[in-house]
Amino acid sequence: MMLAQSRKDPESGEAVSSPQIQSHVASLVAEVQKQGQALVNIRPPDPSKAHLAAQWFQDAAQFRGRPLHYNYVGTGVGRGPFVELVDGSVKLDLINGIGIHILGHSHPRVIEACLQGSLSDIVMQGNLQPNTEYIELSKRLVQLAGRQSRLKHCWFATCGTMANENALKMSRQKLSPARMIISFKNAFAGRSTMMAELTDNPAYRQGLPEYNEVLRIPFYEKNDPQSSEKALRLFKEHIAQHPKNISAFAFEPMLGEGGYQAAPREFFVPLLEECKKHGIAVWADEVQTFMRTGELFAFETLDLGQYIDICTIAKTVQLGATLYTEDYNPKPGLIAGTFSGSTVSMRAGLAIIQEMSQGHYGPQGRVNQIHRRFISGLNRLNESAAKGKAQDAGGMGLMVAFTPFDGKKEQVDALLKNMFNKGVMAFACGKDPVRVRFLVPAIIQDSEIDMALKVIEECLIEGV
Ligand SMILES: Cc1ncc(COP(=O)(O)O)c(C=O)c1O
Repeated sequence: MMLAQSRKDPESGEAVSSPQIQSHVASLVAEVQKQGQALVNIRPPDPSKAHLAAQWFQDAAQFRGRPLHYNYVGTGVGRGPFVELVDGSVKLDLINGIGIHILGHSHPRVIEACLQGSLSDIVMQGNLQPNTEYIELSKRLVQLAGRQSRLKHCWFATCGTMANENALKMSRQKLSPARMIISFKNAFAGRSTMMAELTDNPAYRQGLPEYNEVLRIPFYEKNDPQSSEKALRLFKEHIAQHPKNISAFAFEPMLGEGGYQAAPREFFVPLLEECKKHGIAVWADEVQTFMRTGELFAFETLDLGQYIDICTIAKTVQLGATLYTEDYNPKPGLIAGTFSGSTVSMRAGLAIIQEMSQGHYGPQGRVNQIHRRFISGLNRLNESAAKGKAQDAGGMGLMVAFTPFDGKKEQVDALLKNMFNKGVMAFACGKDPVRVRFLVPAIIQDSEIDMALKVIEECLIEGV
């Protein structure tokens, strides 16, 4: 059967695929929903699948050169926050590929977008020959980012790290020959050579040369009343010691890998004012925070839009993107590359933004409701049979974390494995203490949050 190309009208954004394609897509979406409809609860592994599953895990270890972190290989079937694995188990997925699947598994609008994207004439789009999705997604992102900032342009990349590399180059070119960057202690920026340097974790650059181009200031510490002052003092010292040699202040609006610690607007403002005074680029790395903090951008949640020169996003939008103001528009040749993203990613990114924009944002939006319920549930655990074992619950929006026990790595790793075995997927963040973090999908129901809390409580009581 010949299928006409699936495409969208660039003006109206309406799908203009043939009726034949529309009808096939609709029935495929319905079929995918059927596949996952039985996934409504956590399920233990099926002993009859143990042998097959062991083979998958063994192959993963052999061909990657190291075992999987969890015994996780998905079958490709999922529904909402639930995902089915090759061992027959069903997990409540509260980590979502470290923050990619914000609408959970098999969301009908995402599946529809993926199907439409897959019927396009090409797989990957490039900067030389974009299709309509490329333009449409950049336009949408710029429109949304520009509501509360001067961000005016958008350039795609295939991941957060490359979006960050482009951001760094833009800031350095504009402020050439400045080479230094200021960033927070415990920052994470990705794992390319330069982003591993910007990331404050020596374990991620073992054996690599030091470039010594990053200056650190401490992040906000809520238990220290002097915290903001200390950070600002050091910031000013760095500027004084490196006159005209600082290209950017690269910051996560909330430390992600660094421990899910949030900071108030008042902490950031004096730092950003300093940047403006000295012509240093303000670069918000929103790779983890984008779509998750109760507004689309964390700079909106924190009301910092007026300061932002460059903003990087990835994960939830299904590809990487660097957003920048007119001043930071680079000279031709500085940023390019073969891939800008897949047609499927672009379609899915557009659908996710659209879906998330409906009822998820604002003080009473679903993101904040989920946050409040999860945090209060964790706080209640700390007062119940698990008293003292789940402390300092916090985060922003769909990023939630707590410190179990004493926050020692071995304890937290053992707890996470126990939670996984009992059906709840989470992951660690932070160094001292190590915390348990959740990247909660926006489609989670209250009853599913309660289900997760019950498993967490059981594991905390069992101890390590
Ligand atoms: C704040 C931040 N920046 C950059 C990255 C790197 O993104 P990617 O893994 O897509 O390259 C991450 C990934 O977790 C991140 O959290």
